[in-house]
Amino acid sequence: MSIGILFESSETDEKGINMTAEQMGIDLVYIPFRKVAVRLDEHGYSIRTKAKDYTKVIKDIKVVLNRAQSKNRRLFAANVLEAFGKHVINPQCVEYACFSKLRTLLHFWQAGLPTPETVYVPVDSTEKTLDGREIHNEGDIADLFLMELNHQNIVVKPDAGTHGKGVQLAKERNELLPILRDIQPSIINPVGVLAQKLVQKWFYDLRIIVTKEDRKAPYCYPTALARAGFKDFRTNTFLGNMVVGVNLPSHIREVAAKCGKAMGGDSKAYLLAFDAMVGVNGNKDVEDEHLMEEFEKLEPSFDAVKKVKGDKTKRTSFPAWNRKLEAAFENYKSQEPYLYIKDVIEDSMEKNKHNIVFHEANACPEFWEQTRLAAGINIAEALLKGAQSIINNE
Ligand SMILES: Nc1ncnc2c1ncn2[C@@H]1O[C@H](COP(=O)(O)OP(=O)(O)O)[C@@H](O)[C@H]1O
Ligand SMILES: [Mg+2]
Repeated sequence: MSIGILFESSETDEKGINMTAEQMGIDLVYIPFRKVAVRLDEHGYSIRTKAKDYTKVIKDIKVVLNRAQSKNRRLFAANVLEAFGKHVINPQCVEYACFSKLRTLLHFWQAGLPTPETVYVPVDSTEKTLDGREIHNEGDIADLFLMELNHQNIVVKPDAGTHGKGVQLAKERNELLPILRDIQPSIINPVGVLAQKLVQKWFYDLRIIVTKEDRKAPYCYPTALARAGFKDFRTNTFLGNMVVGVNLPSHIREVAAKCGKAMGGDSKAYLLAFDAMVGVNGNKDVEDEHLMEEFEKLEPSFDAVKKVKGDKTKRTSFPAWNRKLEAAFENYKSQEPYLYIKDVIEDSMEKNKHNIVFHEANACPEFWEQTRLAAGINIAEALLKGAQSIINNE
């Protein structure tokens, strides 16, 4: 029985999953989910492109790794495949919860897990009446946020956004109003406005991986990816920050595993990447200026990593490119400032571990170029083991 992998286009993560499957001796079968006809009728189903019929291939598969990049397409892929009797990693209920930051936070909150103070207001900033007038609600929304969060520093974010896009910090009501005015209902923010109190984190936040195999407890990896730097209050690496592999305090691992349970419910297997922040509230042992100097020293070796990442040979000769990336990363990780920053983060996490909050769950995390090399976690292996565990237990 083979395992399927579904994606729109083969990026490094998908190439990495393929490579890992080969190394593990697993037969991994590609399933397209873009220009295909998914057909249902009284005789059953078919899935085919103009050139090829995939129906038989899919009938022989028991588990599918869902790597569609678009959240909407990924959710539909899970809906379709589960209706056709397949197990999907992640299952549609997990995918649905992860899709929305509010739904994710509600799951955490129901399980009594720590989250940032959050307020959701279901009205849109601007409403159109039937006779063509516009009603502006941003003043009321701002007042509701300020009243509930009782704090001037407010983070407004699109419910289904990624990569820090549209995540904005307002330091007073006058900054909040134009941010709210510009929010329009969209695919990443279907309805209403979501806001949080600014968590007083330091220069880093965390990407923590939790996985579950069939008939086992959720497992949180002992290491995590810290996104670190002073470039933006959003520490997304997309915005120029660096990555550091860190060892997690056991308390944080325990909370993360519970977050897995809260999102995964009774699902047989899943893999989630949680975003979490540590509220240090000024409890710092090192001056920011000193850290900034260390980051600066680290820049050349991180730039070398970024250069390899941008190298086009990753498309044409993946294994050779991958070796180059690994070498660049090893060099970056062996720098003195890297080891120093890693120590500072580990120390800060240990001291403030009870102020951890979880704020996001990613169902299809990127991993090959960063999480794998910084934190030493090959998510491909976890995904494949999850799939195997379902097959072996049936
Ligand atoms: N409440 C908050 N307090 C402080 N920083 C935040 C808060 N919410 C988000 N951020 C910062 O912004 C980044 C992006 O926000 P996030 O909710 O993870 O959205 P995205 O899906 O775009 O990654 C986070 O990684 C974090 O660094
Ligand atoms: Mg995030």
